[in-house]
Amino acid sequence: QLTVFIMAGGSGERFWPLSTREKPKQLLKLVDENRSLIRMTVDRILPIVPAERIFIGTNAIQAKGIAEELPMLPVENIIIEPLFKDTAAAIGFGSVVIGEKYPDATMVVLASDHLIKNEENFCKRILTAAEVAEEKGAIVTLGIKPNKPETGYGYLETEECYIGEPTRVVRFWEKPNLHRAEEYVASGRYLWNSGMFIFGINTMMGAFEKYLPKHAATLEKIGKLGEAKRDHTNKELNELFGTFEKISIDFGIMEKFDNTFVIPVDFGWNDIGSYPALDDVFEKTEQGSVVKGSTVVEVSAGNNIILGQEGKVIATLGVKDLVIVDTKDQLLICNKADAQNIKKVLEILNK
Ligand code: GDD
Ligand code: MG
Repeated sequence: QLTVFIMAGGSGERFWPLSTREKPKQLLKLVDENRSLIRMTVDRILPIVPAERIFIGTNAIQAKGIAEELPMLPVENIIIEPLFKDTAAAIGFGSVVIGEKYPDATMVVLASDHLIKNEENFCKRILTAAEVAEEKGAIVTLGIKPNKPETGYGYLETEECYIGEPTRVVRFWEKPNLHRAEEYVASGRYLWNSGMFIFGINTMMGAFEKYLPKHAATLEKIGKLGEAKRDHTNKELNELFGTFEKISIDFGIMEKFDNTFVIPVDFGWNDIGSYPALDDVFEKTEQGSVVKGSTVVEVSAGNNIILGQEGKVIATLGVKDLVIVDTKDQLLICNKADAQNIKKVLEILNK
């Protein structure tokens, strides 16, 4: 039976000033006026998985906001990690907690910040992935045909790939450099890793033992903590968590695991990683700008992303390729090309 684990521990710093520590990206209503990204993630999977089998992995700062956003989930389904240790620890810890209740679960691990256009097709592909995971004892991913040499993604090497047809992954390459990414895109045999993983809990635990044995040993000890593992202030839990190496599931397990399958998909996938991603999501003005909130006047200006406040006029004159975000207390003006580096602003502000 399918059980969902949504990873929602990222800080979303690249969406400052809209995002804050308490209100990170997944809690923002970035693409839908009424629903946050995490709410959209849950709504999308609800047609095939009941609410009591949907779990969220997050941290203490965000847990309250997430619970408010997701009233349909039992509160105990929000799993709080005491420390930020990246996705390998998050998935391991989630698997331990969920495995106690549903030991034979087929897990569907999802990110909390993706946009998917065709949700019905998404559900269909998840069901196929679960079948493959069960039949082959594999970790199954959903792969996206790349259209640019993006270096922020993982790449899945295949022998050949056709939409909807599961195929064995020859190698998994997490975040290659630009030169290699260009080669991969040109070859036509590589897919982007969408960041969704489908597997039997036992398969993943076996992978931890083989490739991240220190994680596996710690996870075993955490398993023995009983109820204490659900108290993020518990001293023993904190000590054990402190020993986790900070590493992602992609580098820690997926690059080495030898029984990975991918289902090439085309349901319209967008990783809302930073402001420029909104260019692919929203309708544009005649001048090619994305405009939200404010009334915007563009004179010899265009290709900008302008997120303003209701009741305020923003005028642009002779500027292009900018991100302009105006909130009550903060104003960001940056080149689209620099939007990946907004955390440098935060480093200074947080000093
Ligand atoms: N609970 C929890 N704990 N969640 C976390 C943690 C953590 O310590 N760290 C990250 N997350 C969440 C993020 O909120 C996000 O939803 C998801 O895990 C993925 O983390 P990212 O930090 O956004 O990963 P990435 O974008 O660099 O790379 C991954 O996603 C790409 C596609 O979007 C990789 O899987 C790539 O291979 C993939 O292409
Ligand atoms: Mg991401």
